Parts: sequence; structure tokens; C-alpha cells
Amino acid sequence: MDICQHRLIPVVVISDPNDAEPLGQALIDGGLPIAEVTFRTPAAAEAISIMSEIDGLTVGAGTVVTPNQVELAVEAGAQFLVSPGLRADVVREAIMDGRPIVPGAVTPSEIMQAQSLGIDTVKFFPANLYGGAAAIRVLSGPFTTMKFIPTGGVSSSNLADYLSLPCVPAVGGSWMVPLGLINGRDFAAITTLCRTAVSLVASLAN
Ligand code: 3PG
Repeated sequence: MDICQHRLIPVVVISDPNDAEPLGQALIDGGLPIAEVTFRTPAAAEAISIMSEIDGLTVGAGTVVTPNQVELAVEAGAQFLVSPGLRADVVREAIMDGRPIVPGAVTPSEIMQAQSLGIDTVKFFPANLYGGAAAIRVLSGPFTTMKFIPTGGVSSSNLADYLSLPCVPAVGGSWMVPLGLINGRDFAAITTLCRTAVSLVASLAN
């Protein structure tokens, strides 16, 4: 499984598990069959469990900050894990459970610690506040093999800045799956946003 395959990772916040199935379908219809479901609501594990039953959808857990959440996410069916920061016990639990994990790292020391735990891809969050694409470009100087997935403030207006860097395999963000549209159950609008983002990324490749 390559979570960077689409170069876009929708970061999802689900409050009502009933939204999980139609949201998963909306992502598939939008040509973006992947979701990072964040542990920011009590509904996260149930939503992951529902979405992981949807054929063709890759579902991971985001905002995983404790080893216990790694276990809950894996039990629910999460295929990958994302953390906003770096905790050795969280990374080790994920590795033990055989799941790829993308921990957060924004400083040279954090990146070195991630490397020491065997991590080859980090989340660069919040990307807009830690220097954006310019900062990632400079960090890739010493860390020649590290890959960065920027999230936080990424949108259609700046994703090209990030994706033009060879060390950025994908960007993440909520702009394709806004909370208001999920809570308002406007899944058709989410499909449209996903389609637009997918076309934009395709146009960069040409
Ligand atoms: C994340 O956890 O990746 C971020 O909350 C996403 O940031 P965004 O809402 O600014 O896209």
C-alpha cells in the first residue's frame, strides 16, 4: 500500500458514525479513495471500522497521539497511522502492529529522532506556520532521503509549491473534506472538491 499514491490525503473529522459510509463513497466517487480519519472525536474508531469495510477505500487513522490509540485504530481496521508529533512509544507500537506510521517532525532534531526509529516519511505540520515549502526544501538538504507530507494550511492555491519538491510525495489537508460539508451531509459537494483536487494534481504532472 502506498498512501502517497494519489499525492493527496484527505484529513477527515467525523462526529457522527452515520456519515462514515457516505463520506467514504464520496471520496471514491471523487477519484480519491483514501481517508485519514482523525482521533479528534469519539466517533473516530467506529468511523474507521465502517470505512474500512468499503471496497477500494484505503483508511488510516490520524491524530494518533498515544500507543493505546494505535491499538484502537489498528483494531478498527486502520491501514496506516498518522501522528501530529513524534513519540517513540507510538512509533514502536505501530511498527509492532505492522502498520506504516507517519509521525510529525518539523525540526532537524525531530527528523533525526524519526530517522533513528526507522521512519522514512514524516508529517510536516502545521506546514504553513513552520515555513511552508521553503522550509521543507532547506530541510531536505541535510536529510537527503527523508520524505515530507505537509499538512496544515495546504489548499488548492499552494499545493503545487509543495508537490513540486521531490521530497514531497503527497500533501494532506481538510480542504477537500470540510467539516461543514460533512456535518451538513453534502457529500456531493465533497465529491466535487475531491475531483477538483485530483484534476489539479494531474495537471501538475503534465
Ligand atoms: C492535520 O491534522 O493534518 C491538519 O489538521 C490538517 O490541516 P488543515 O485543516 O489546515 O488542512
